[in-house]
Amino acid sequence: MSVEPQRDLMDGAASAPQTGDAGRRREDRVRAAAARSLPHDATPPLSYDPDLERLEIELLLEAIFRHYGFDFRSYAYASIRRRLWRRIEAEGLATVSALQDRVLHEPAMMEQLLLDLSINVTAMFRDPAFYLAFRKTVVPLLRTYPFIRIWHAGCSTGEEVYSMAILLQEEGLYDRARIYATDINEVVVHRARAGIFPLDRMQEYTENYIRAGGTRSFSEYYVAKYDGALFSPSLQRNVVFSQHNLVTDRSFAEFNVILCRNVLIYFDRELQGRVQGLFHESLVHLGILCLGAKESLRLSDYETSYEELSGPDRIYRKVR
Ligand SMILES: C[S@@+](CC[C@H](N)C(=O)[O-])C[C@H]1O[C@@H](n2cnc3c(N)ncnc32)[C@H](O)[C@@H]1O
Repeated sequence: MSVEPQRDLMDGAASAPQTGDAGRRREDRVRAAAARSLPHDATPPLSYDPDLERLEIELLLEAIFRHYGFDFRSYAYASIRRRLWRRIEAEGLATVSALQDRVLHEPAMMEQLLLDLSINVTAMFRDPAFYLAFRKTVVPLLRTYPFIRIWHAGCSTGEEVYSMAILLQEEGLYDRARIYATDINEVVVHRARAGIFPLDRMQEYTENYIRAGGTRSFSEYYVAKYDGALFSPSLQRNVVFSQHNLVTDRSFAEFNVILCRNVLIYFDRELQGRVQGLFHESLVHLGILCLGAKESLRLSDYETSYEELSGPDRIYRKVR
């Protein structure tokens, strides 16, 4: 993972897969980081002064932003706090300030913290009802377009991107689609590009796929390789994977569809509003916005800019 200042997606440079030694080194780092991930939540000792804790957390987030450019200052406080304490505990530290010292002086600690703070939980055909609704309500609209540009914002390790590629292939739309798949975390983007997912989740994904309206046999899309399922390279043909930060990076194209599922939930209201502004600016007129099951446009500044295509599935169409 690079903790260098982040690049613009339109540079295109970030989309090329890494091969050879550099690729292997990165893969090793991904594995090591995953092995160090923490299984439980942690909280500060009861004697910790809450005002001091808040001050230290704000200073740490400010320091991360000013030194590394990653802006977690408007993420939901309770979630950030829990994750910081997990790392503090794992490193055997006593205070948030001690973590700040490590983060500022050791880029590897920043890499680790970025993994801790960017929650990467995902699945193929997650919320199958959403994909079913997408097939029913969005696909007929997409058929009328000669070319379809799709943005998966906050794609994590790519499971939702491959799911969408499968859906579009089955609907005969893949060849006219270009999918941009981005995440703040370069480690997960690298894994997404590799297209290898744990073999032991294939049963769950097969069930999701069927409930999502899949029309073939799910096992046609991957081959077992060691303990992984390697997905067909044909699913990647029209996909560009890249790092992009929703908080600090600009819009980079106009899209017919934007999917940003289970990401806004980690942001506070003000940041949610800013990111919704970015999506509104990046969608064509009548473009489609898809959010996660616990996210909505209700009570946001953009509520009246969209109509609901499928309310329970959080599928919206931009109307103004
Ligand atoms: C819980 S995962 C959701 C993955 C997928 N969209 C899904 O619904 O299964 C949230 C993802 O948002 C990414 N993320 C968090 N902050 C982000 C930001 N500022 N810009 C881009 N991605 C971000 C995280 O790295 C993580 O991979």
